[in-house]
Amino acid sequence: MDQEIRALKAEKNAVVMAHNYQPPEIQALADVVGDSLELAVKAKESRADLIVVCGVRFMAETAKILNPERKVVIPVKDAGCPLADFLTPDLIREARGRHPDAAVVVYINSTAESKALADITCTSANAVRVVASLPNDTILFGPDANLAAYVQRQLPKKTIIPLPPGGHCYVHAGFTLADVESARTMGGRIVCHPECPPEVQAEADLIASTGGMVRGAAAGGDEPWSVFTERDMVSRLRTLYPGRVFYEKPEAICADMKKISLADLRRALESGEHEVVLPTEVMDRARQAIERMIAVGA
Ligand code: 13P
Ligand code: SF4
Repeated sequence: MDQEIRALKAEKNAVVMAHNYQPPEIQALADVVGDSLELAVKAKESRADLIVVCGVRFMAETAKILNPERKVVIPVKDAGCPLADFLTPDLIREARGRHPDAAVVVYINSTAESKALADITCTSANAVRVVASLPNDTILFGPDANLAAYVQRQLPKKTIIPLPPGGHCYVHAGFTLADVESARTMGGRIVCHPECPPEVQAEADLIASTGGMVRGAAAGGDEPWSVFTERDMVSRLRTLYPGRVFYEKPEAICADMKKISLADLRRALESGEHEVVLPTEVMDRARQAIERMIAVGA
């Protein structure tokens, strides 16, 4: 199967992009593995005829929006992100009506339609920098309320209004103080994604995006890490740093991130399915918001 996938990639002049939460066998065959921001930037730069995104739908949509001339496919059509579904265009319009002076910052974990209504997007890697770059005192921020609270703590002079108030990722919301306690008994550092609840973030030694975790581990130290995010992040870290000790939470599984198998990847390369198709007007408006984010940097 691996050989067939490699041969198909060459034959189709395809690039395979995988998120850090993909299973190790998919990561191993990918040309790019990264966090949401890294995948977006690489997709924008790609000159491949076919971009296969192994991740969830918003990641494939972002790739298409940033590089509309390319064919972008996602191997499994219904690999979605339940967090993204918390934010609807109607919620954004209604909140803008209530807060006409506020800027709208939409997390990349969102639909293309929501991004099209944003002033700027952000990822977990650059949320603080993006919000800090805006002149507005009030920020409507969605859909992740835990990330909104994280940004609020870093930028106390801003008023960050979560949109909607309870938007969350069920994988990260599942981390609790009991996990902190058991991590402490293992020793080492607690490394936490900013989608985790605030009380868990308060106990963390490092709060970072998945790409930030890769860079943080590279920066050294040989202590074990308890990694508070989706469990295949640890597969990525173990591959990159084989001598180091990383602990995952076995129950922290994003079901949508596990939908793509090697057989699905092979089929996507062979057939060019399932192509991401979005209305041009939505893509054009969403692109402006994403390009503004990229200009702000990580
Ligand atoms: P990153 O951008 O940190 O990779 O996060 C994406 C995501 O889906 C977190 O659950
Ligand atoms: Fe969405 Fe959570 Fe899965 Fe990330 S881990 S893709 S935020 S459901």
